[in-house]
Amino acid sequence: MCGIVGYTGEQAALPILLEALKRLEYRGYDSAGVVVLDGELTLHKAKGEIRELENVLPDLPGTLGIGHTRWATHGAPSQHNAHPFVDCTGKLALAHNGIIENYGVHKEALLAKGHKFTSETDTEVVLHLVEDAYEGNLEEALRAVLSRIEGAYAFALTHADEPRKLVVARRDSPLVLGLGTGENLFASDVPALLRTTSKVLYLMDGELAVLTPEEVRIQAPDGSAVDRKPEVVTWDVEDAERGGFPHFMLKEIFEQPEVIHATLLGRLSDFENLEILRGADRVQLVACGTSYHAALVGKYILEEIAGIPASAELASEYRYAARSDGKPLVVCISQSGETADTIGAAREAKRRGSRTLAVTNYVDSSLTREVDESLYTRAGLEIGVAATKTFTAQLVALYILALRLGILRGTLTPDEARKWTEEIRALPRAVQAVVDNAPAIEALAREFSQVRDMFFIGRNVNFPMAMEGAHKMKEISYVHAEGYAAGELKHGALALITKETPVVALLPQDHTYQKMIGNVGEVSARGAPVVAIGYEGDEELEKYVDATIRVPWVRSIYSPVVNVVALQLLAYYTARERGCSIDKPRNLAKTVTVE
Ligand code: M6R
Repeated sequence: MCGIVGYTGEQAALPILLEALKRLEYRGYDSAGVVVLDGELTLHKAKGEIRELENVLPDLPGTLGIGHTRWATHGAPSQHNAHPFVDCTGKLALAHNGIIENYGVHKEALLAKGHKFTSETDTEVVLHLVEDAYEGNLEEALRAVLSRIEGAYAFALTHADEPRKLVVARRDSPLVLGLGTGENLFASDVPALLRTTSKVLYLMDGELAVLTPEEVRIQAPDGSAVDRKPEVVTWDVEDAERGGFPHFMLKEIFEQPEVIHATLLGRLSDFENLEILRGADRVQLVACGTSYHAALVGKYILEEIAGIPASAELASEYRYAARSDGKPLVVCISQSGETADTIGAAREAKRRGSRTLAVTNYVDSSLTREVDESLYTRAGLEIGVAATKTFTAQLVALYILALRLGILRGTLTPDEARKWTEEIRALPRAVQAVVDNAPAIEALAREFSQVRDMFFIGRNVNFPMAMEGAHKMKEISYVHAEGYAAGELKHGALALITKETPVVALLPQDHTYQKMIGNVGEVSARGAPVVAIGYEGDEELEKYVDATIRVPWVRSIYSPVVNVVALQLLAYYTARERGCSIDKPRNLAKTVTVE
């Protein structure tokens, strides 16, 4: 995720752009830039947060400009990879939020034509394509280029020869237009507009819009005019930053379909060149907290999809264990990339002669500097202390890794790889169905919110999900919760089960189903109320449990992705019912930089 903003009107553009960019910083903050038009384009960029950019900015008088705050995907965070970009003529500027999948082929052709690139980004190819297509009408040039590119985008462009005009277009990346009097603007999200106007128009997928100070024109994908009524936003700026949600955690839970889509983008058809995977014959996954639960799921994913032996280990324990297991590929998972235990484990793995790969959400983190290679999730900034969208993005990264390994090792045939890939592509829709079911989960949470203890049970790939469900419940609602492998209860913890201890059972219809039903019977017989998370269409389920949360059918190995979203919502609504400080739970920090 990145944030883009643009303004055209009577006022100086720069202060408006900077204020708006600060409201978008949650979408990315590894570098930022602005371009302002005042007869000619003036461009300023800086690595780091918006205030780093502010520190290097002179006063710029123009009344039209574009700004960008970046979360790197292609090309490291740096001043030269920061947006916007200005073309070879110095007259055209462009900023982008998204990923261009087929940038490689265009780049070769553009270089052969003599275009000068100033960055390693995928975005810059679009700039030079528009430069080539430009014949005095910016929207026409952009429309011609849109048909040639694949991927997700929200683009913002301006051209010095059309000095009052901004052109924007979107597909699979958000964009909102703000309507003022004698001024108009746009941004990736509503909060960035609210200092100027509360009158907004949402741009839809495939649409393009032209903004001048006097008017906003929207065009459908076929170029025809779109007549859409503006909406008036009633949120204040603070509400708007949370997208109208009462907490960042809930907003982040709801962002998961977009995040899964973004993390998959361009990686299924054209696998990243993860050289480090060559020759790997065993994988050790190392992480802490929620990321450790991703590692535990990763073991099942890698063994099932890639047929490669894998194990998961707590980073804080990794360095103390004696080793007799050679030199596996060590995959360190950390959303922040700053967790001291995980960084320590990466160092230790290298000391033992292993190759190391990071799965992280931060391109320029300490962990990425420590390891040999990195695979980035694309979850954007997560503000809630409880990890939600970064966790599902980690699972998606692990599916990508497993597919890549399976293909490399020859354990997956092209047909099998295609089948797995098609099913992964369906995950954003499946997760959307789970978040759409939030009201039912909220009602259920109300019923159980005052309990003291809870158990979560699952088997196989959903055993780690039981642990994650309990982890989420503990950290934000302060209910004592335990995640158990369902088959293990009878070896001890069953002694704690009473009618006062609700049990949440993860019940996908897979090879563990009948055994899980047996375990549900064990706890029901002790009086425990049972909530099942099960598939839509599983008619059997109601016979065995007291309540059900339905999730769409997905292949068992993908079920953690849908199940965890239901678990996150259950924890969230329980915490809300108990009046807890959800985004900042007591005693916890978002990033743990001590061992
Ligand atoms: O940034 P990391 O993924 O390395 O963080 C690891 C844990 O500290 C983190 O997952 C923690 O458990 C969260 N509070 C989970 O919600």
